[in-house]
Amino acid sequence: MTRLPFPFPVVQWQDEQVVLIDQTLLPQQLAYRCCGDIPTLCTAIRELAVRGAPAIGVAAAYGLAMSWRAHSGAAGNLNEILGGFRTDFAALAATRPTAVNLFWALERIGGLAESLVDGGADPSTVAAALLQEADTILAEDIAMCRALGRAGAELLPEEATVLTHCNAGGLATGGYGTAIGVIYAAREMGKKIHVYADETRPLLQGARLTAWELADQGMDVTLLCDSAAASVLRRGKIDAVITGADRIAANGDSANKIGTYPLAVLARRHQVPFYIAAPISTFDPATAHGDDIEIEERASDEVACCHGLRTAPVGIAAYNPAFDVTPAELITAIITDLGVMRPPYTDSLEAWASAGESK
Ligand code: MRU
Repeated sequence: MTRLPFPFPVVQWQDEQVVLIDQTLLPQQLAYRCCGDIPTLCTAIRELAVRGAPAIGVAAAYGLAMSWRAHSGAAGNLNEILGGFRTDFAALAATRPTAVNLFWALERIGGLAESLVDGGADPSTVAAALLQEADTILAEDIAMCRALGRAGAELLPEEATVLTHCNAGGLATGGYGTAIGVIYAAREMGKKIHVYADETRPLLQGARLTAWELADQGMDVTLLCDSAAASVLRRGKIDAVITGADRIAANGDSANKIGTYPLAVLARRHQVPFYIAAPISTFDPATAHGDDIEIEERASDEVACCHGLRTAPVGIAAYNPAFDVTPAELITAIITDLGVMRPPYTDSLEAWASAGESK
């Protein structure tokens, strides 16, 4: 097995291109997908070649930096550059609706470009500043995940078994991970952690990605089909359930991969703590309530087929929401880069957001 450098090189800037670990090919193949233009990058995001809320944000940040460079190389005047840049911004924003990190990163790079242009900066100065900002977003993501990982690891006993869903690991972020970042940090503290990873139907991020990256890192991991989680919790095998999030509303309601909400219900039923782990880029203060979060619906074939093989009758209707919302009342704590937030979340999340703004 190839051992990846850690933090994982999930998104890289190389030769004027955004280079991604192609997560559609794992675990069979570790290969990189080069995105040299915005349509190619948009396809990579839609196909989940790069996926996981923070990683999508980092990829989009580099994408916009690439867009500016391409337009400023080709176009004669500033209006033409800005026109092309804004079109690319809109194309990236239309790729996936739920993970707020995408919009957070686009606003950060797009806002910087607009303010530099307003201040009279020339195109090459803007190009350098946008690339530097994308580098900063990547570095900050790794630092925030390390910080939240440490905060979360403190919650775990010296020996613990943790259940997780989907992939909120290095592969889903700038390279360190949120829910799985907690596991890596616990290991760094010398704790002995066993992870149960839900396979995560329909696209199997748990089986293909979480199991792969934990095994790659030499961690103790056992794969479960999603429907086995209830029995494992009932048998008292789990000390904590930890997942990531794609968007956290102002009241603490959290959207994450479909199948997260039932885990939170099960955790409550069996009196096991249920934690969400996320960096500030996942918090959406503009969305008051989880019901207001747009949930991506994906192609029905993702449910009706498995690995390209049809597993349901041709023509059958299949419903495929990619995410669900866990109400704040079921979340024991939200593990963030500023520490562990307990309910009621409204005030603590606001303080977290202001700290993020003043950075
Ligand atoms: O559809 P995906 O694979 O992008 O969904 C990813 C998740 O739901 C993750 O749990 C979430 O983005 C948090 S990643 C740190």
